Amino acid sequence: MLDQRDRALRDLRISVTDRCNFRCGYCMPADQTYRFLPKSQLLTFEEITTIARAFAGLGVTKLRITGGEPLLRRDLPQLIGMLRALPGIEEIALTSNGSRLREYAKPLVQAGLSRVTVSIDSLKPEVFARLADTKTPVATVLQGIDAALAAGLPVKTNTVVQQGVNHEECAAIAGYFRERGVTARFIEFMDVGNLNAWRRDRVFGAAEIAAQIGAVAPFHALPARYHGEVARRYAFDDGQGEFGIIASVTKPFCGACSRARLSAQGMVYHCLFAARGYDLRRLVRDGADADALAAVIGGAWRARNDRYSELRGQVERGSDEKVEMYHIGG
Ligand code: GTP
Ligand code: 5AD
Ligand code: SF4
Ligand code: SF4
Repeated sequence: MLDQRDRALRDLRISVTDRCNFRCGYCMPADQTYRFLPKSQLLTFEEITTIARAFAGLGVTKLRITGGEPLLRRDLPQLIGMLRALPGIEEIALTSNGSRLREYAKPLVQAGLSRVTVSIDSLKPEVFARLADTKTPVATVLQGIDAALAAGLPVKTNTVVQQGVNHEECAAIAGYFRERGVTARFIEFMDVGNLNAWRRDRVFGAAEIAAQIGAVAPFHALPARYHGEVARRYAFDDGQGEFGIIASVTKPFCGACSRARLSAQGMVYHCLFAARGYDLRRLVRDGADADALAAVIGGAWRARNDRYSELRGQVERGSDEKVEMYHIGG
């Protein structure tokens, strides 16, 4: 099943909550007030599983659980177990801020989680605390990563790099994690959502990140692991470890974008920068089964034409508000 740009649907990102215990300035700036979804508006685990079954029937093989912070959703391992049992699902990943990973790593593995990606923007305690605006110390997040490794989960990290904020830390972060067998990934600061006061001159580009890391430890490029992988992969020349760069501003990758996003309240978005989605919660609550949902999802995917990052700056967006990052989990 292909969209208007011949892209297949392979990857579903599922947000399980819009809440987060951190307040990263580029996602949920602390000077704003947030009205979170009441429980009655969240998809239940059964509803999420029915929707994921429909997506799996259309060719989705990979699920990624996101938030907000997904480990704030009660009994998350139970959902992982339910999704694991779906035919066609080869991999279930989790994107987390790591604050609760120490407690949850083992139960998540036992439920069938395949791997985890932890967001961490600095290794320096004061800088970390300021950027994530949290009382959770960076040490707790690092212990969460160690707990995930000890439980047998492959781990990646995500660092959003901002010029003049944390851009000098890329080489140190890559170095710290490669010694632990963790793939550090560096993400160009993006203009997602409406709250993050994005400025082009705050972007620290992929070329600059690569130059900084290369000056400390030489590396070479690796082939992508799968078609549509968003990170470019690099291995250190000494054979110890790798890292990745996600260049969504300077080198957009819409041409291979195979992702759909399901929000915690059951809206499907076809692009991280979308202003509009369509509602599946109403359909499941009216009794639609996976086959009925698949018909709707398939029709919408075939009509899809999104490629925001390739058009960035070229088109006027008008007054449409973009969906917020904490609703769709990146
Ligand atoms: P794996 O390759 O499976 O490890 O995961 P991933 O890189 O697809 O997922 P992750 O949640 O770790 O995303 C990393 C960063 O890339 C986040 O900042 C996402 O917002 C961003 N990202 C993921 N998918 C897309 C996409 O389709 N478009 C854009 N522009 N950014 C994306
Ligand atoms: N630009 C780039 N990455 C972002 N993320 C959140 N907001 C932005 C942004 N404006 C990242 C988070 C998380 C991932 C899912 O998305 O740090 O690791
Ligand atoms: Fe929370 Fe992640 Fe948003 Fe930070 S980027 S506020 S950790 S959801
Ligand atoms: Fe996909 Fe939209 Fe990101 Fe392009 S900007 S890669 S279409 S999510």
